[in-house]
Amino acid sequence: MWADAADSGFLDRHQLRGAAFSYAPNINPERAISLTMPYRLASWNTAFGLAPFFEMNLPEGALRERLRLSFAKATGSFDDFDLLGIVGRSQVGRIRYTGQADSLDEDVPFQSVDEILERRRSGSLFRHLLERFARFSGISGVQPKIMLRDEGASAPLSKTHHRASHTHRGATHIVKFWEPNEYPHLAANEFFCLKAAEACGLELPRFRLAEDAAALVIDRFDLREDAAYRGFEDFCVLNARGTGEKYRGSYETSILKRFSQFALSPHVNEDLERLYILIVLNCALRNGDAHLKNFGIIYDNVLGEARLSPVYDLVTTTVYLPEDTLALTLDGNPSWPSRKQLARLGETRLGASPSRVRAILDRVATSIEHTTQELRAYQNDNPGFQEIGNRMLTEWSAGIRHSLLPA
Ligand SMILES: Nc1ncnc2c1ncn2[C@@H]1O[C@H](COP(=O)(O)OP(=O)(O)OP(=O)(O)O)[C@@H](O)[C@H]1O
Ligand SMILES: [Mg+2]
Repeated sequence: MWADAADSGFLDRHQLRGAAFSYAPNINPERAISLTMPYRLASWNTAFGLAPFFEMNLPEGALRERLRLSFAKATGSFDDFDLLGIVGRSQVGRIRYTGQADSLDEDVPFQSVDEILERRRSGSLFRHLLERFARFSGISGVQPKIMLRDEGASAPLSKTHHRASHTHRGATHIVKFWEPNEYPHLAANEFFCLKAAEACGLELPRFRLAEDAAALVIDRFDLREDAAYRGFEDFCVLNARGTGEKYRGSYETSILKRFSQFALSPHVNEDLERLYILIVLNCALRNGDAHLKNFGIIYDNVLGEARLSPVYDLVTTTVYLPEDTLALTLDGNPSWPSRKQLARLGETRLGASPSRVRAILDRVATSIEHTTQELRAYQNDNPGFQEIGNRMLTEWSAGIRHSLLPA
């Protein structure tokens, strides 16, 4: 295993169904692989499956199925350990996995982002990309997606810093697709939810919607200008829970409190407020999928400060699942909260004054309303999005009324 492109230790199957990880002797403690697994002599063992940190970036859903179909034949059986062996060389974050005797080869093939955005290729672009990039996509999540490399397509901000002068070998972008039969217009749905987050003043990587709305292309936020990757850990890991437990927990403890425990940062109060705004926004947008893997922390040094990661994966899920509710609990239950409940959450968990909390809730409402206008304009130009767009507007307006405005 590799941390920051340096050898860090060995992960192997252990006993009947478990796994064991041992650090290489005498490594620099800064090469520790996870905040939850500091450097030590004794190995880190699990009796069943992989520890949450190793499981963190394993594909779920369509991508996992695709990899299983392509590789199960070769390996005979197929479990999480096999999957890690396939996608381990190209993962979200700073950790890479190779065979014990192998050197680190992170190279990901080039694929033009513009080609995806402008839809210049005919036929099933997604099938083509999935075929080519699935094994370079050490990224979690149920929605169909891949990671690819196009260092020229990164945010303009970085170009002024001559980003291109650094050699990028690994993936630079994430491309998310949608299944028309399952979640129509999911990419546009996510695009406008992310727009709302931007309007709230939250931090986001650059994200772009393809001209035909078939895909959402997102810059990796864990990629630094010097082409190294930053540490990333999601809240499943911070709560010592496996991917199967991503819907278990509360916003109070498993998100807000847990963040302050791991932040080790002079910016912890500022970040807690951003985290609170994100939780509030999720409620108002009626995103019932804000589970433990949809929040994360990011850091340059595993022993140093960790910041709240930029925002990702916001969707108005009630457009597809009208009965959907919160992914985690608030006040002990999964119902969409009222403004009063959200205000209390802010006052008790941030220690913010009632007027500060009121100002935040009002600002989120205004930001969503502002985004509503952009969504309407897009609908006018893209009649195919009319119906889903209208459903989103209805959900947002209900969300604002119930969760953000005074009763
Ligand atoms: N811009 C980004 N840069 C780096 N990593 C990211 C970025 N966006 C998302 N990730 C990582 O990729 C994972 C999957 O992305 P995302 O949550 O958008 O997918 P999803 O399939 O919609 O997820 P879900 O299963 O929650 O619906 C995230 O949990 C996070 O670990
Ligand atoms: Mg997600």
